[in-house]
Amino acid sequence: MKEDAIILGIEGTAWNLSAALVDERKIISEYEKPYLPKEGGIHPRDAAQSHASNIKEVISKTIRKAEIDLDEIKGVAFSIGPGMGPCLRTVATASRALSLLLKVPLLGVNHCVAHIEFGRWLTGAKNPLVLYVSGANSQVIAYRDKKYRIYGETLDIGVGNAIDKFSRFFGLKHPGGPKVEELAKRGKEYVRLPYVVKGMDFSFSGLVTAATSKSKENSLEDLSFSFQENAFSMLTEVTERALSYARRDELLLVGGVGANLRLREMLETVCEEREVKFFVPDRRYVGDNGAMIAYTGLLMLKNGMATPIERSSVKPNFRPDEAEIPWF
Ligand code: ATP
Ligand code: FE2
Repeated sequence: MKEDAIILGIEGTAWNLSAALVDERKIISEYEKPYLPKEGGIHPRDAAQSHASNIKEVISKTIRKAEIDLDEIKGVAFSIGPGMGPCLRTVATASRALSLLLKVPLLGVNHCVAHIEFGRWLTGAKNPLVLYVSGANSQVIAYRDKKYRIYGETLDIGVGNAIDKFSRFFGLKHPGGPKVEELAKRGKEYVRLPYVVKGMDFSFSGLVTAATSKSKENSLEDLSFSFQENAFSMLTEVTERALSYARRDELLLVGGVGANLRLREMLETVCEEREVKFFVPDRRYVGDNGAMIAYTGLLMLKNGMATPIERSSVKPNFRPDEAEIPWF
């Protein structure tokens, strides 16, 4: 394989349909068409329908922007899981067709691993403990013996989904994360809410129930503030213990919730106290994007890990510790 092979990556596990072309050194081009529900949360079938309508445009604009010849593309990478079944299947179908058309290998990428590898690539973190916090996922992860191992995780919903549920209750539009972050800044009083850490795991659904049930006697600002304080303290407590247990001197924050400045502040404090280096990618790359899929696809191609079409069925529950990581 040539040093400067270009990979096309397509992400569409949930809300963001996004494509990118990358080579070993840089992101060459990217284009996205996010799906934003008119009301309520993300409906998997609506999101898949939106992806199906937009995928041709997203791919062709990504390629056109790059000003390259099609035969320079050496692989087609896509998120094979975890994610919403209908969304995954839409993107997988398009990716299989493209790989056949371009006569290049298909690369089925684990979405969580892509967040981590892309984060390491962008920030230069070498062997970090990873806090991966998004809508559907909340996990504390570190590499050991050819795999990413999960040290702690949510026992129910991801912290992003918890924030989105809380905000939806108050009639705020999806995604709730940025709105709750703003409201929380104006909170004045702490409202007592559940704080649930069990061993190295945490849980968020009780926090949503309690916070929404106190909506009559407390302001939305105070509840947003208290919700964030509890949810992020739970994540920070487990992260701190995992840093010491896994003996890491680097922490990498990835996933859409990683955009939150209050969460970053809490983690920074722990890192300072422990002399741990804190890494977080640029805000626009903490959440879902095509470049992370393309980059991880490149790593797979270099390690002879192409995905035969007959083994390219999507894996809605694909965990990061099930993926082989030979390149670390
Ligand atoms: P995954 O498939 O990895 O679970 P995802 O589909 O949830 O990914 P991401 O882009 O990684 O997508 O994360 C989206 C989540 O991040 C949403 O729940 C959103 O509310 C949350 N989020 C975005 N910005 C912020 C913020 N500033 N503060 C808190 N949460 C945020
Ligand atoms: Fe994600």
